[in-house]
Amino acid sequence: MQNKTIVQLLKSEPTHHKVMVRGWVRSFRSNRFIALNDGSTINTLQCVVDFENFEDEVLKKVTVGAAIEVVGLLVESQGQGQNVEIQVSNLTVLGEANPEDVKRTILSPKRHSLETLREQAHLRIRTNTFGAVMRTRSKLAFAVHEYFQKNGFNYMHSPIITGSDAEGAGEMFRVTNLDAKNPPLDKNGNVDYKEDFFEKETNLTVSGQLEAETYAMALGKVYTFGPTFRAENSNTSRHLAEFWMIEPEVAFYDLAANMDLAEDFIKYVITYALENCADDLEFLENRLLEEEKTKPQADRSDMKLREKLRFILENNFKRVSYTEAIDILKSSKPNQKKKFKYLIKEWGADLQSEHERFLVEKHFKCPVILFDYPADIKSFYMRLNDDGKTVRAMDVLFPGIGEIVGGSQREERYDILLEKMKTMNIDEKELYWYLDLRKFGTAVHSGFGLGFERLVQFTTGMGNIRDVIPYPRTPGNAEF
Ligand code: 4AD
Ligand code: MG
Repeated sequence: MQNKTIVQLLKSEPTHHKVMVRGWVRSFRSNRFIALNDGSTINTLQCVVDFENFEDEVLKKVTVGAAIEVVGLLVESQGQGQNVEIQVSNLTVLGEANPEDVKRTILSPKRHSLETLREQAHLRIRTNTFGAVMRTRSKLAFAVHEYFQKNGFNYMHSPIITGSDAEGAGEMFRVTNLDAKNPPLDKNGNVDYKEDFFEKETNLTVSGQLEAETYAMALGKVYTFGPTFRAENSNTSRHLAEFWMIEPEVAFYDLAANMDLAEDFIKYVITYALENCADDLEFLENRLLEEEKTKPQADRSDMKLREKLRFILENNFKRVSYTEAIDILKSSKPNQKKKFKYLIKEWGADLQSEHERFLVEKHFKCPVILFDYPADIKSFYMRLNDDGKTVRAMDVLFPGIGEIVGGSQREERYDILLEKMKTMNIDEKELYWYLDLRKFGTAVHSGFGLGFERLVQFTTGMGNIRDVIPYPRTPGNAEF
């Protein structure tokens, strides 16, 4: 007897052989049709029971959410939209789900808002929406590895606990085993980190970049893909305190090669999702269409989800310097009524998300790679341009998402890097190892970081980043 997943069975021919399937009941109609789901697909397998052959006691327990095992013949389906169904000969209830209790949860078969689902994060994965999103997330993660492995990159595991602040933005979560309420103090009354497990201040990593650079300068092409942490108090639909970042770093790449890599990589993983998550993306597309209907006409998207994804593949990302972008923003008319109110910017200012979205969604109408930002608004490690005031930075901006990638060509010149660290008050003793890279066989090199959740958000069309990671960590929220 074959023991197959529902995704395999739905693709097979009606063999009239006996099969066995285990899963959870999605619905049980007319005491006859069980819609069974095992998580392998968004779709359910119809299991037909002839109620005269089964004890009432057993059938009573076939309720929404119950885990069951069915055995029966795989036959042609009479129902629409499916090839096969199971004619059930044996039915075992493995785990009951009391309907009264189910009613009080999001498992009850009615529409629940995403906010409500978030409150029951341990159960929301049983809904169609979260099944579709998380299967797509899993496929995208596989595609990330496949892309880099096929292209000669080494997967590097950067440390989670670090002694340095890679971004210099001070948004770190401290790691310590000292008693928070009663820490040992030194003679000046400051916390004495010599007593700490690591005998120094440590934190959760905000980026694996600096460590990845050390590996790129030996292995040539590397990438990291792991969790990163930021204690930024941003309660937005694009920020998490714990998110997964993909960071390739490549020796001998300049900024132009870095841009090519980012564009090629993003297109590869989106293509992979379109080819390997067809059912889930179709479901998510329909879900979005329903959601769109509730919006005013003017706010509705003019493209369906998969059209948007294909559009990304078919068009080149537009490469625009920061200076050009400022000129565009300055000369565009502010729209007082709508989203894009504050367009006039002075050179040197950081772009806010509404400026980025204006450039991508209104002006260029395609993904944009902004480059050569003012040195003063970017991190210390970026390569200074000959103009002395801009750095070889790049941000990839996506419609509906804003910044999906941040990267740069790195400063490979020892003296200039040291000078920069001094002016930015970065402790050169702490980062002696980073400076060493510029002493021993230094070379032009570049890399970028892509926020994995923002990629999943774009691919699945989910509006809030909290709905594309199993257990979102945001200010005031770390249940489980
Ligand atoms: O632009 P960021 O801060 O760049 C770096 O960390 C570099 N060290 C990367 C590198 O060059 N290796 O972050 C990179 C990306 C952003 O573009 C965004 O997609 C994502 O990480 N990101 C976040 N995603 C979710 N929640 C947050 N709080 C995020 N902060 C950054
Ligand atoms: Mg950034």
